[in-house]
Amino acid sequence: MIIGAPKEIAADEKRVAMTPDSALQLQKLGYECIIQSGAGANAGFTDAAYRSAGVKIANTAAELWKSSDIITKVRPPEAKEVNYLTLGKLLISFFYPAQNPDQMALIAKNNANVIAMDMVPRISRAQKMDALSSMANIAGYRSVIEAGNNFGRFFTGQITAAGKVPPAKVLIIGAGVAGLAAIGTATSLGAITYAFDVRPEVAEQIESMGAEFVYLDFEETSQDGATTGGYASPSSPEFREKQLAKFRELAPEIDIVITTALIPGRDAPKLWLADMVSAMKPGSVVVDLAAERGGNCELTTPDQKTISDNDVTVIGYTDFPSRMSAQSSTLYATNIRHMMADLTPDKDGQVFHNMDDDVIRGATVTHAGAVTFPPPAPKVQAIAAKSKEKVKEKTPEEIRAEEIAAFKQTTKNQVGLLAIGGVLLLGVGAYAPASFMQHFIVFVLSVFVGFQVIWNVSHSLHTPLMAVTNAISSIIILGAILQIGSPSVLVIVLSAVSVFFAGINIFGGFLVTRRMLAMFQKS
Ligand code: NAI
Repeated sequence: MIIGAPKEIAADEKRVAMTPDSALQLQKLGYECIIQSGAGANAGFTDAAYRSAGVKIANTAAELWKSSDIITKVRPPEAKEVNYLTLGKLLISFFYPAQNPDQMALIAKNNANVIAMDMVPRISRAQKMDALSSMANIAGYRSVIEAGNNFGRFFTGQITAAGKVPPAKVLIIGAGVAGLAAIGTATSLGAITYAFDVRPEVAEQIESMGAEFVYLDFEETSQDGATTGGYASPSSPEFREKQLAKFRELAPEIDIVITTALIPGRDAPKLWLADMVSAMKPGSVVVDLAAERGGNCELTTPDQKTISDNDVTVIGYTDFPSRMSAQSSTLYATNIRHMMADLTPDKDGQVFHNMDDDVIRGATVTHAGAVTFPPPAPKVQAIAAKSKEKVKEKTPEEIRAEEIAAFKQTTKNQVGLLAIGGVLLLGVGAYAPASFMQHFIVFVLSVFVGFQVIWNVSHSLHTPLMAVTNAISSIIILGAILQIGSPSVLVIVLSAVSVFFAGINIFGGFLVTRRMLAMFQKS
């Protein structure tokens, strides 16, 4: 089959869905590749680069669409492109099916299939195809760069001969994919970064990236924004009020706000209100990544940069990934290539559209003449929900009773083992000489004590533990030193060799332990 990538029609769209590298991989799956002339030019990929990767060049869009069985695109198809989608063709692109019901019905009527890259479920197996995340990651990074470009100061604090520069304070609202990328970029540039999200489980991720999680003094189960497929659910009005009050309190000291808050299928919640912008210092910047869905900031104008009355820049660009077209095309083309690999299990250049596969089913919006959107809940989620039902919360009494039962069982086992060991020792003692028994009992006891000590050490610490026991076990060196004064040359040589190797063991053991333990210490 032939996979083709047309030039994007949308004005200012610089991305392309196939790169020379991804074309090479697609060919390994058994496909032929074709691209419309100039399709990659805005992302830095020339026709010549495609040609040398074995890709054919089509001169016109019509030629491209007609000669391809599978068409990969970035933006949803426009009306004239939909007309090209005839019987049996497969389109893979962003599609936003909920917003394009008419197009979807028309394509289904024409018996063409559509895989919407924005519908790939957010489950671990599908991460490599998660184009929304790839693009959000770029948008998060770029939002900080864009903010820096419009902010008249350093991110990092400095003490120079010319004076002291305070570090910039950045607040990221919404710590999903874009938010985390923004946190990473802002902290690495040296800003003091705060982040807020309705899902408290992200607090740990936020803190591990060097930012501070903004906690609310609020007790409500919905603060955990019970996630569905990796997304948050709406919070209560009381929670929202608390959240806004916190933002109002922070506004005067924050220099840069990056908002990314979104719940799929809804308009972006208004979280940074006009009065908060007014409370910010002149020269501050707000970057609203949710602009496309109405924006998180009340003053956002989609696709525009505006300046408020108090000189705060509000950026509502909706094309951040396209502003880094080489990077975003590379990641997007790789997502598509992974999708094709899942669609081609036999690597024979033929699509096997397996509707029993959670990821493929989830992303398919039209198939075999029917609209298949919305998809059923992924099976993994159903399994997770089922097992959640089964795991009933235990009361403290139940936990205590279980602990006592486990303790009794362990004691019973140990007493049994000791009794068997005692009988065996008596048996050996009946025959072995007294001098042997003395050493043997010490040996048996040290094995027992050693085992008890190691058994209670957490697994993650086993390697340093082994290293240190290695060092200690080099007590051998004592024996070797005692023998080194022997009149026999052979004994002297053997003792010297033992001292040498035991020395390596001792010093090596302690060095390894030091390095291992350093890995568990916070700098
Ligand atoms: P995501 O779903 O991974 O993250 C959204 C985060 O917002 C979640 O962590 C969620 O818990 C949080 N959130 C939801 N409601 C909230 C509230 N009321 N307060 C605080 N946090 C809240 O989404 P992702 O992929 O990170 O995308 C974020 C935004 O960036 C989306 O609006 C997306 O459309 C936009 N985007 C914009 C681009 C641009 O060029 N402007 C490009 C790519 C994405």
